[in-house]
Amino acid sequence: MSIANVSLVTVRDVESLRRRVQAWRREGRSVALVPTMGALHKGHITLMERAMKMADRVVATIFVNPKQFGPNEDFGAYPRRETADFELLNAAGVHLLYAPDAAAMYPANFSTNIQISGVSECLDGAHRPGHFDGVATVVAKLLLQALPDIALFGEKDYQQFVLIRRLVADLNIPVDIIGAETVREPDGLALSSRNTYLSADERAQAPALYRAISAAAKSIAAGEPIPAATAAAQAQILAAGFSKVDYVEARHAESLAPLTAKTEPGRVLAAAQLGRARLIDNIAIPRV
Ligand code: PAJ
Repeated sequence: MSIANVSLVTVRDVESLRRRVQAWRREGRSVALVPTMGALHKGHITLMERAMKMADRVVATIFVNPKQFGPNEDFGAYPRRETADFELLNAAGVHLLYAPDAAAMYPANFSTNIQISGVSECLDGAHRPGHFDGVATVVAKLLLQALPDIALFGEKDYQQFVLIRRLVADLNIPVDIIGAETVREPDGLALSSRNTYLSADERAQAPALYRAISAAAKSIAAGEPIPAATAAAQAQILAAGFSKVDYVEARHAESLAPLTAKTEPGRVLAAAQLGRARLIDNIAIPRV
């Protein structure tokens, strides 16, 4: 790539980020923020492309947030490839990359923790203590640092998306939160930076997660009792070679409360371990 083709600028501190975003806003331009932890794939880039259509200027963030990883999780192993990410973002036409380091985000005296009750306590919140506090805290910081008009999040991390909507409503953060559909491989596997942990055999087994929750969503829509449908999905995931299923559950699409009637908007959500990778996925229950 020649220098002439590089229009993406990287900033690493809040002051430089604010200066640029405020200049755009003074010119009357709308600004979209797309937070990521890097190791970008087509799912992330689809969010960037959507942002480019919805706003005049797009700011991507890359920050592997230590606060959202548990002590026995993969913070150290999480893929980091900022040079390749930069090229992908530049090719997508993104205007600004904000990539702070951990010391800038969390100076030594940092003391705030945002805990959202309800939506952050179930599902992944129950299996990853503190995870959603870490997500809520960093997303609040990123939104307040950049002050964009809109911010985009993937439905791939559905509970995270619901939680962020709750966060901005509760704290009156003046930003519209936009959700984007999950981008999948042709065989149904949701794209994820963690898919790089899968061996070739595991990669072949991985789409069973999507197949199982899709079948559960269809049978719930067709009238099968929810416990039977989710138990069948769990059995299918284990039979495909996953070592452990953390949960397969049908939940209300907005409140994440257990789904009681199929007339409510619903979602089947699942998390399961395959080799070194903990995979999550979810799907809407078709309305009948
Ligand atoms: P990360 O996993 O890098 O994801 C960044 C954004 O991309 C999230 O909104 C996520 O839902 C979305 N995304 C990931 N895979 C996707 C796919 N297959 N299809 C569509 N969207 C997808 O989620 C995080 O980072 C972090 O928790 C973050 C919000 C940045 C806070 O640290």
